[in-house]
Amino acid sequence: MLNIGILVSGGGSNLQAIIDKVECGYIKNVRIVTVVSSRPDAYALERAKKHGIKGICISRKNFSNIEEYDEALISHFKGFEVDLVVMAGFLSILGERFTRAYKGRVINIHPALIPSFCGKGFYGIIPHQKVLEAGIKVTGATVHFVELEADAGPIILQKAVCVEDDDTPETLQRRVMEQAEWEILPEAIRLFAENKLVVEGRKVKII
Ligand code: GRF
Repeated sequence: MLNIGILVSGGGSNLQAIIDKVECGYIKNVRIVTVVSSRPDAYALERAKKHGIKGICISRKNFSNIEEYDEALISHFKGFEVDLVVMAGFLSILGERFTRAYKGRVINIHPALIPSFCGKGFYGIIPHQKVLEAGIKVTGATVHFVELEADAGPIILQKAVCVEDDDTPETLQRRVMEQAEWEILPEAIRLFAENKLVVEGRKVKII
């Protein structure tokens, strides 16, 4: 059984997609043991509660530096014997101690096709605004292993989504979540749980 811990900050639609795929049996031998939010008012915590999953807020604001914040997250996940950490719409930065402690065992969903529209400052609705400003025709989402540099880890899965002429950042964000994020994040967890991911340098092979 693989214990996963999920990091969230907002509405939690990606968390819901994972919960649904675990509960319907599509993802096997996986248990969501804890949900950690960077914000106390995140609706994602409500979603966890509705499914009997222990939720907690560990906010960066309550720590004087990133090292202390990392240690708090590490000890929380160790307390739940977490094997894989999933960043699902998580908007806080993880530091060196955390990314080293969970190297190869923490993944993130990014709402664009990395290496485009990613890195520092590209989170939430911003990638979609930039995609529209640049007149891009195809965008999408990416699941990748997490390293210290934001959005720079080896890519596990990507899915493309067409941009419509009358799109707003909000309508595009919604479609990228529906057609890409909610599909590839649970799929990446399934592949990890079934030991089907092999990292070779910058590449991730699916066996
Ligand atoms: C998603 O597009 C996610 O990629 C981004 O924030 C949006 C909201 O995610 N980081 P969720 O509904 O909280 O999962």
